[in-house]
Amino acid sequence: MIQLPAVSVKPLFSVLVVTLSVLLAISVLAPRSIFSQTSFSSLSRENVDIWSVRRMLEWRPCKWWLQGHLIPLSEKSNGYIRIDCYGGLNQMRRDLCDGIGIARLLNATLVMPKFEVAAYWNESSGFADVFDVDYFIQQMTGFVRVAKELPPEFASKEPFPVDSSKRKGQFDYLESVLPSLLEHQYISFTPAMSQRRDRYPEYAKAAFCQGCYSALHLTKSLEKKASELLLAIPKPFLALHLRFEPDMVAYSQCEYTGLSPSSMEAIKAARGDKKPWTGDLAKIWRRRGKCPLTPKETAFILKALRIPTNTHIYLAAGDGIMEIEGLTSVYTNVVTKSALLSGEDFGNMHGNTKAALDYYVSINSDAYMATYFGNMDKMVAAMRAFKGLHKTLFLSRRAFSELTYMGFRGKRLARALWEAHRDDFVMGRGSALPDCFCEFKL
Ligand SMILES: *[C@@H]1O[C@H](CO)[C@@H](O)[C@H](O)[C@H]1NC(C)=O
Ligand SMILES: *[C@@H]1O[C@H](CO)[C@@H](O)[C@H](O)[C@H]1NC(C)=O
Repeated sequence: MIQLPAVSVKPLFSVLVVTLSVLLAISVLAPRSIFSQTSFSSLSRENVDIWSVRRMLEWRPCKWWLQGHLIPLSEKSNGYIRIDCYGGLNQMRRDLCDGIGIARLLNATLVMPKFEVAAYWNESSGFADVFDVDYFIQQMTGFVRVAKELPPEFASKEPFPVDSSKRKGQFDYLESVLPSLLEHQYISFTPAMSQRRDRYPEYAKAAFCQGCYSALHLTKSLEKKASELLLAIPKPFLALHLRFEPDMVAYSQCEYTGLSPSSMEAIKAARGDKKPWTGDLAKIWRRRGKCPLTPKETAFILKALRIPTNTHIYLAAGDGIMEIEGLTSVYTNVVTKSALLSGEDFGNMHGNTKAALDYYVSINSDAYMATYFGNMDKMVAAMRAFKGLHKTLFLSRRAFSELTYMGFRGKRLARALWEAHRDDFVMGRGSALPDCFCEFKL
């Protein structure tokens, strides 16, 4: 954690805080009276929220991306590539983005990707059901070749599948995939996680960035629905991606105490064979910041960041959040999709459509906060940076668990959380995927 000169705090106040901290350490008997809001509100700008702190850095699209199309495409295409994407909407999009860069690296022609959704999402919407195909093709002009249809000789054929997932270490596409492409002329693969995008030539990185952040617009009908939803949310508002669903908690292998019996049941059911850590291991795990923040903890951090409790909050999440009263009992203006959309509309929507709505609202909200750093959060943060929206922040599970582990409570905890998050915000940490964005000093 970088210690920055306190932006909103006067020197006298810093001295006072140190003094009071010492006092608190000695006398744990009357911490509340020492730390009551009124005792120093005249000395600091306590009512300034996190967004009002002056930022020092921000992320903007890199020049080489915006100028990437200046390098002409090769004369000849080396063949056709179909990217096969799996998982939730934002995971599929991440893989597609990678695939676009790889297609340019290999001087291939991209055909429409395959979007296949994991069975539990219970839906099968293809790429064209979520994203505007013509817009995509138009935006990629000069960056990479894209074909809407395969030429007749391949139209009825399945592509040759190249497995890039099981290979260990750094995956080199020129070495491993180009030969198959040249031989079969039509291949498919799911991009490997371990590729070294930083070694790409700039024209391939530019194709990746352009494809990921400029070229993917929701279909007209999805966008219409999403903008209706956006319109219905009271402004200004904070989009909050709060991940505290049973599957998430089960996956984290964290131990929780103080949850309701029904939440405990739901978590147990989602765990399957995966057992939570217990005893000292559970403590270490939690301290490392591995455990999802509960709605109650989230509310505490929001308050520490001086987000007023009457702020309009849109929950950019599924309907399965547990213990949501922990948030809504403090922040009373919380809205959800299910409350804002008509029952019929909502009933017809599936995982991907709902995810697309949350994504759209989140990239257009006044502010965005996430309790996790998942595929959606990364995509949203980057899109917000692309659009010049900088009120984006990831709540730090690690800071929260470290500080509580060290015994911080109440006002002292709130103050320390403020400082940790303020530093992140000032330095623009975590707010963009560095691949396509460059730091800009303010
Ligand atoms: C792809 O095209 C670029 C020019 O745009 C060229 O420099 C590069 O060598 C080509 N790579 C392959 C694998 O064909
Ligand atoms: C999955 O979708 C089908 C058709 O849309 C529906 O009939 C079925 O009830 C759904 N299953 C679950 C578990 O949601």
